[in-house]
Amino acid sequence: MSRAFPDSFLWGASTSAHQVEGNTENDWTAWEQAHADRLAATAEQRLTGGHRFYSGSPDWEAVKELATDPANYVSGEACDHYNQYEQDFDLAADLNHAAHRFSLEWSRIQPGPETFDQDALDHYRDMIAALRDRGIEPVVTLWHFTSPQWFAEQGGWTAPDAVDRFQAYVERAVEALGDTVSYWITVNEPQVYATQTCFGEWPAHGGTGFRPYLRTVHRLTTAHRQAYRVIKDCHPDAQVSIAKSVIDYVPYQHKLTNRLPARAADWWWNDYVLRRIHDELDFIGMNHYSRKVLHRTRVVGQPEQTSDLGWGLYPDAVYDALMQLKRYGKPVMITENGAADAADEHREWYLEQVLRQVRQAIADGCPVEGYLHWSLLDNFEWDKGFWPRFGLVEVDYETQERTPRDSAYRYAEIIEQNGL
Ligand code: BGC
Repeated sequence: MSRAFPDSFLWGASTSAHQVEGNTENDWTAWEQAHADRLAATAEQRLTGGHRFYSGSPDWEAVKELATDPANYVSGEACDHYNQYEQDFDLAADLNHAAHRFSLEWSRIQPGPETFDQDALDHYRDMIAALRDRGIEPVVTLWHFTSPQWFAEQGGWTAPDAVDRFQAYVERAVEALGDTVSYWITVNEPQVYATQTCFGEWPAHGGTGFRPYLRTVHRLTTAHRQAYRVIKDCHPDAQVSIAKSVIDYVPYQHKLTNRLPARAADWWWNDYVLRRIHDELDFIGMNHYSRKVLHRTRVVGQPEQTSDLGWGLYPDAVYDALMQLKRYGKPVMITENGAADAADEHREWYLEQVLRQVRQAIADGCPVEGYLHWSLLDNFEWDKGFWPRFGLVEVDYETQERTPRDSAYRYAEIIEQNGL
C-alpha cells in the first residue's frame, strides 16, 4: 500500500471559540462563574467516581492540584485567541497546516435577540482572510456548544422557537461570510451536547432527563437541516456538514448478549442523526476519540495506553469508525481527533498510528478528504476546565506564551511528506 495520502488531502487542526478566544459572554461563562466552587469541591468524586458510560479516569494525584482549584473552571481569558489569532495562524502555517477549523461565537454576533454586532462579523471576516493569506483553508463551525445567554434564558435548544432563533443568526453569518467560506460545519456533536447537558454536568437550560434529551437532539438535527438550506440557497458550491461524534462500539468477547447492546448503541449514537440528515450533507465531519467495549450496557476494559483524562487510546478504532461511515456514500473529513496529553508522551505515536489507519481506510474505499487534529492549542475543556491539554501547541496561561510540542513538529513533517 502506498503511504502517501491523496494530493488534495486537507491537513490541519481544530479549535472552538469558547475554548480558546477568551472573554466570551455566553451561557457557559455565566454557568462557570456560578459553579466553579462546586466543580472544584466535587472534582475527585466526579473524575474518579466511575461512570456507566465511560471507563477509565485520570490519575487523581497528577491532576488534583489543578482540578481542585476553582479558577480551573472559569474560561476567563482562555488563550486570548480572539486577539492573538494572527500569531496562532502563523504557528499553524509554520507547522504546515493547510486547513483550520474554528467556530463563530454566536453570542458575539448576536448579543441580544434583535441585535447583531457588525464588528464581530468583521472580526471573523478578518480571521478568515488571515487564514487565506497564509494558504490555510477555513472550516467554519456555526455552533460549537455555546449560545447567547438570552437564548439560554428562553430554554436553550428545548424552546419551541430555538431553531428559528438559530436560523436568524445563521442567515446573518452566512450573508456576511458566505462568500469567503467553502467548508461549513453547522452544529457540533448534537448527541454529546444533549448527553452532557441532560444527563451530565453541563449547563442545561430546559431541564434534565430523557424528554429534554430527545428534544435537544431533535432540535439540533433540525437546526442543521435549516442551516444547510440557508447556506446552499446562497452558495450552492459550499460543502456543508455537521461534526458528528463517532464511537467504535465493540461487544465484549463478541458474545451475543453484548452484541445486541453494541448494535443498539451504534444505531443510536452513530447512525440515527446521520440518517435523518442524509439529504442535507455534502460530506461527513467525523469527530472521533474513542472505542467503547460493551459488556451488556456497561463500558468495560481499557487498553494499556490512556490519555490524561483516562480515555483509552485505540488508534485502530478510527479505522472501524471510518469503515462504518462508508455506508452513507459521502466523503469524510475528520474534524476532530486527539488526546489530552500534557507531557506529550502519547500524542506522537497515537497520531502516527491513527494516520496509518486513516490511510488504510482510504485504501479500503472510505473517501477521507482531510484530518483536523484536536487541537491546535491547549484550551478550555468544558466542565473539566484547563488542566486537560489537547494542544499540538502548549499554552502558558499565565503569560500566553505558545510553544509547539514535539508531536506538532512530527505532524508538520508528516504533512510535508503528505504521508508517513
Ligand atoms: C468537542 C471538543 C472537546 C473535545 C475533547 C469534542 O467532543 O467537540 O469541544 O474539547 O471533544 O473532549
